[in-house]
Amino acid sequence: MKKFTNLLLLILSLPLHAAPDGKALYEEHCSVCHNFTGKGGIGLPLTPEILSQVSDDYLARTIRVGRPGRIMPSFNTMSDAQVAAIVRYIRSWSGKPGPVFEKVRIKGDASKGKPLYEKHCVRCHGKDGSGEGPGTGVTLSRERSFMVMPAALNNPGFQHSASDAMIHDIIQAGRKVGGMPSFRNKLSDEQIAHVIAYVRTLQPPKPKQGMEEWRGKPAYVMESPYDFETTVENVRQALTGANFRIFPARYLEQGLTDEFSVNTRQISIRFCNFKELYHLLNIDPRLGTVLPCRINVIEKDGKVLVISANVAQLAGLFNNQELSEVGVLMEEIILSVMEEATL
Ligand code: HEC
Ligand code: HEC
Repeated sequence: MKKFTNLLLLILSLPLHAAPDGKALYEEHCSVCHNFTGKGGIGLPLTPEILSQVSDDYLARTIRVGRPGRIMPSFNTMSDAQVAAIVRYIRSWSGKPGPVFEKVRIKGDASKGKPLYEKHCVRCHGKDGSGEGPGTGVTLSRERSFMVMPAALNNPGFQHSASDAMIHDIIQAGRKVGGMPSFRNKLSDEQIAHVIAYVRTLQPPKPKQGMEEWRGKPAYVMESPYDFETTVENVRQALTGANFRIFPARYLEQGLTDEFSVNTRQISIRFCNFKELYHLLNIDPRLGTVLPCRINVIEKDGKVLVISANVAQLAGLFNNQELSEVGVLMEEIILSVMEEATL
């Protein structure tokens, strides 16, 4: 009955041939990383300052291609109308139309741009433009007080989306929110052209070795031969055996529905090994927002399933060798816990 009412409500709320709802699409696909109001999180902020620097064309391309290897997925199955609706919605926050840039290449000399880049940009954007300083790992490449990660300038998603003219204006203006200084009085137009020519030569890092077998699987699912209660108890015991501290379990739907209709046959066992977590967060503080640290046990169609997100893959998204290695280690521990609980 409930399902039917929901369906009916859905149909009633969708006028025929309606334009896609940009707000709903944004909230569904973007808000986890960019926040509901665009103030940023794992993803870069989309504040009025930043929106005043980027074109609609750049926004649309960025949505389409994402940032491969830098967490943001590509939304390549959305229709043009959906992408345009999201862009319109983001624009509505500042109430101003975006700038339009000429698409022509700015002519500069990369060999003259290199020393300028090394002098002015390396400390934040890293030697190869990946946002990682030389051998220092993601966080140490910027000052601790930075709220925002410097974007990866070598990312093919960025390179494909940004025009030279746009990059020119960003270098001139800087970005207050992320602490990027203005170079208006430090670099001439000609020097900026050289820097851009050099930025265009930056290549994405090679895919990390040893991650292949962890890729492509968003979650691991194991079927338990035991009943629901025994499986939950087994998982708890296996976690304790692996030195994890367990937090009070939560029903998966808790907070989403009222307490009387909560499905008590779906439980989320939350745990953490604080030492490991602390180490991970030191490598990249953003990981805290995505690291699940939970194993779900659900009963569905008479089967009891034990489920965990692919932590190795999640950690791999940050494109940091050390983090990837710890992620793989965590994943191996979690999988062995799941195996033990369902043996
Ligand atoms: C899983 C996290 C994630 C999701 C989901 C996501 N993004 Fe991003 N986004 C990022 C990250 C991380 C970056 C910065 C990439 C980098 O560091 O190079 C980014 C960058 C951007 C940029 C470039 C900002 C700038 O300053 O140039 C835009 C625009 C953007 N995202 C829009 C969106 C929109 C719109 C959606 C939804 C359709 C979306 N993102 C979904 C994580 C995400
Ligand atoms: C003090 C640190 C710092 C310095 C120095 C710095 N940047 Fe940035 N830059 C950032 C941060 C942080 C961001 C992301 C800010 C944001 O979007 O809020 C950024 C964003 C950018 C962007 C936009 C990228 C995107 O995906 O939106 C470009 C282009 C850029 N920087 C180029 C440069 C160049 C070229 C130089 C040297 C001339 C430079 N920056 C120097 C910190 C810095």
